[in-house]
Amino acid sequence: MNPLRNRFRKEVEKSVVEYTASIPFDKRLYRQDIAGSIAHARMLAKQGIISEKEAELIVMGLASIREEIERGILDLRADLEDIHMNIEARLIEKIWVVGRKLLTARSRNDQIALDMRLFAKEAISDTIEKLIELQKALLDLAEANKDVIMPGYTHLQRAQPVLFAHHLLAYFEMLQRDVERFRDCLKRTDVMSLGSGALAGVPYPIDRAFLAQELGFARVSENSMDAVSDRDFVIEYQAAASLAMMHLSRLAEESVLWASAEFGVVELDEAYATGSSIMPQKKNPDVAELARGKTGRVYGNLLALLTTMKALPLSYNRDMQEDKEGLFDTVDTLLSTLDVFTGMVRTLRVKGEKIRLAAEEGYILATDLADYLVRKGVPFREAHNIVGGLVQYALEKGKTFKELSLSEYQSFSPLFAEDVYSITVESSVRARNILGGTAPEQVKEALTRARKIVRVEDE
Ligand code: ARG
Repeated sequence: MNPLRNRFRKEVEKSVVEYTASIPFDKRLYRQDIAGSIAHARMLAKQGIISEKEAELIVMGLASIREEIERGILDLRADLEDIHMNIEARLIEKIWVVGRKLLTARSRNDQIALDMRLFAKEAISDTIEKLIELQKALLDLAEANKDVIMPGYTHLQRAQPVLFAHHLLAYFEMLQRDVERFRDCLKRTDVMSLGSGALAGVPYPIDRAFLAQELGFARVSENSMDAVSDRDFVIEYQAAASLAMMHLSRLAEESVLWASAEFGVVELDEAYATGSSIMPQKKNPDVAELARGKTGRVYGNLLALLTTMKALPLSYNRDMQEDKEGLFDTVDTLLSTLDVFTGMVRTLRVKGEKIRLAAEEGYILATDLADYLVRKGVPFREAHNIVGGLVQYALEKGKTFKELSLSEYQSFSPLFAEDVYSITVESSVRARNILGGTAPEQVKEALTRARKIVRVEDE
């Protein structure tokens, strides 16, 4: 029997029990709920609202319930709606009237706001940790292939040669912004909301600073109505997760392309590739494809909660129970994606020679030829036109730049001289020697800076 039904004459409809129960998913919050209750009981005793002896019984009871849940021997009942009521009912079974005192100065609205914050805080620190692991894997891969030159693309067309390491470091930057975003989101999550009661605060002399200290929060919430109805921190986690998944989906897409015979930039380790049920030769990049695919549900979870929260009147509304499944799903999806990506990146084999050859093909050094003329005094736009004509001519003759004779060059501009043949992919990369550029010197320094960042983040 649901203990909240004393004011009703009728039992609740079975379909309603199932429809309203959150226990199938909020049982995941049992640790947070028990931690909150233990802190609450200690605080009540400290303030003389219950006795020390009573607090001790409550704490022991809660610890044994935690064990029962972990061993899977506590029957969690849908008719008790949620994790809070299930734990409370079990506590009352165990220590009878003393268990009932735990309800003093606290409501379920209070409890769920606290549990969600505790859960989100843990999720944030797990996420940051795993983002850094992936950053380290990218740095190791960059370092192990620091001389490899590849074609850099715009519009997915070969554009200019770049260092493979420079390309990887672009992902390091994205992930660094993710780390910073999650850290920022932590500031607003790290607020202790307990003591807000149902919505208006509680009529007991509670010590909220003590609760914050016991539970490891940096601050105490300032307004009880906001505290029980605020789910911004859940939305913020999901927004930061959406951006992180967007970044991972780009790396995923590149991995799929890179692993194809057409690109041939990398070879996936067998442990991170899957086979085909019909084509025996296939080695598929399913990990990357699934990461790309799962990005959709993470965006969906964000949109779902934004929509749930839209236009809700203050303060707590049951709609807000819908905050959980999406958050859990997003956390699970992001963390597991980060895990498999770290493994995939750590085991990638880079086909250095093959990519270098690809970097030589086509007219990828066209910008460098234009820059060559600029250095000899030609305005850039004019140089661009001259080289455009040269490319058209070379295409018609079926020749590469290297295969053109000096007199062919000179028929486009008398400024071309023998040294035009010293323009290579190496010289092209070396020339971009400015902060943020792809020159080996710059990339080396960028790697050093990045290493320092992950070391600091680790502390
Ligand atoms: N299961 C509820 C939720 O997740 C807990 C709070 C219920 N509060 C209430 N007044 N019914 O939001």
